Amino acid sequence: MRLPPREAAINIRGLRKAFSGQPVYSGFDLDVRRGDILAIFGPNGCGKSTLINMAAGLLARDGGEILYDGREVGEVRIGYVFQNYREALFPWRRAADNVRYPLRLQGLPRAAAEARLEALAAMFRVRFDLNRYPYELSGGQQQLVSIMRALAVEPEVLFLDEPFSALDFETTLSLRALLQQVLKELRVTTILVSHDLEESIVLADRLLMLTRRPTTVAADVPVPLPWPRGTEVLSHPDFVAIKARCLSVFEQAVAA
Ligand SMILES: Nc1ncnc2c1ncn2[C@@H]1O[C@H](COP(=O)(O)OP(=O)(O)OP(=O)(O)O)[C@@H](O)[C@H]1O
Ligand SMILES: [Mg+2]
Repeated sequence: MRLPPREAAINIRGLRKAFSGQPVYSGFDLDVRRGDILAIFGPNGCGKSTLINMAAGLLARDGGEILYDGREVGEVRIGYVFQNYREALFPWRRAADNVRYPLRLQGLPRAAAEARLEALAAMFRVRFDLNRYPYELSGGQQQLVSIMRALAVEPEVLFLDEPFSALDFETTLSLRALLQQVLKELRVTTILVSHDLEESIVLADRLLMLTRRPTTVAADVPVPLPWPRGTEVLSHPDFVAIKARCLSVFEQAVAA
């Protein structure tokens, strides 16, 4: 039996959500193309996490539709990487067992699970001992393990909520480089939340800039820069132009 294609397109229509009567989304539409990395950038509290939590099926919506090639989220393999890796990993399980955990839930035979674990370790060039417990690992290593765990089930769609915001700059740079390589290799449709504009542009095929609440799209910016994107892309004229455009949108529409 063939598995469905790993990358699903996402179609959001008329999405509504309010907290205590305060609307966050009132009729929000978004289409994400198959295999794209979409970065979502917006001010604190505009609803970035709310959006991906609803899309990932972690939070109920008040109205509207979120479909994956016509399917509800419950029928789609989803990966989710939380901002706070310290709360995301099971502290009582070794790193490798954290990655194996969703595979066990899936009922994958042991040999296949081990092969998946090894493939992920190779893709992410893991050099530390995966038999260690999370508390024995650095923050960057822990976040890498939680990314591996999210990818273990071969998700059709991957959500990442500010995955690097708790990491130092050097670790962020190396994890970013690895992540983009793996995502482009696997062609996983991805929604990445970031509050770092530069990072959003570097990692994305398309950048969605959101306004303050009630949240709308301030700009929908294609990022047609070549992959892979190392630090040299930061001085690429197209990158500089895109960043300038986004900064001006931010000043006019987002920060206003
Ligand atoms: N469970 C909840 N109950 C009440 N209000 C909530 C809840 N979750 C989010 N909110 C409110 O909804 C708004 C959007 O929150 P959300 O966490 O999605 O924002 P965000 O864009 O991810 O912000 P940040 O950049 O700080 O992570 C905020 O004003 C927040 O206070
Ligand atoms: Mg958030």
